[in-house]
Amino acid sequence: MVNEEWDKMSDKKYVQFTNKWIKACHDVLKENGSIYISCTYHNLAEVMSALRKYKFKINNVIVWQKTNSMPNMTKRVFTHSVEFVVWGVKGKKWVFNYDELKKINPERQKDGSLKQMRDVWLMPLVQGKERLRSTNGRALHPTQKPEEMLKRIIIASSNKGDLVLDPFLGSGTTTAIAKRLGRQWIGIEKETKYIEAAQKRIK
Ligand SMILES: C[S@@+](CC[C@H](N)C(=O)[O-])C[C@H]1O[C@@H](n2cnc3c(N)ncnc32)[C@H](O)[C@@H]1O
Repeated sequence: MVNEEWDKMSDKKYVQFTNKWIKACHDVLKENGSIYISCTYHNLAEVMSALRKYKFKINNVIVWQKTNSMPNMTKRVFTHSVEFVVWGVKGKKWVFNYDELKKINPERQKDGSLKQMRDVWLMPLVQGKERLRSTNGRALHPTQKPEEMLKRIIIASSNKGDLVLDPFLGSGTTTAIAKRLGRQWIGIEKETKYIEAAQKRIK
């Protein structure tokens, strides 16, 4: 949970909302298209259940291991250091650019040759030059995703010229990477400050 209005729903409302938007995505997604949903342990079950309800096939639950995760202050649970990305598909002939993924996989075989991309991705939380900042120097968006994550997702499941839609665009990571990789894109976001930041970033 982050300290933003959109992350403060009751459990019941959250399930209704999740079902509603996942159904809407299913309605507009092309046959054989892919959906990737980023989540944490708080909402993984609800997301997977909604995907199944609307007949998506779940191909992977990718684990994002955050190499610079925050320490746990309570000292009463294991330190949370992972998030998840659930990959669902509509139809049986989904795109999976296996060889392209091998080429961009930072992991190599022992002999230095290319290696299959696994479902555990090691990446730091966004920091340094990649992190968008407000004029006061603070992080502009609380959950800005790593560009590397969106690069892998978009390369895996689309080809040049394909259309990528992100209905919760935030700081514009998805559309910026979609544009860089020669895909068409649509972003939807409800907060004006994030829309403006995303537009600037895409330009
Ligand atoms: C988890 S963040 C996305 C972060 C994004 N992946 C990035 O890299 O910056 C979710 C975003 O969805 C937006 N949002 C929440 N509810 C929305 C809704 N009903 N319609 C459109 N945008 C919404 C929030 O304002 C927030 O910026």
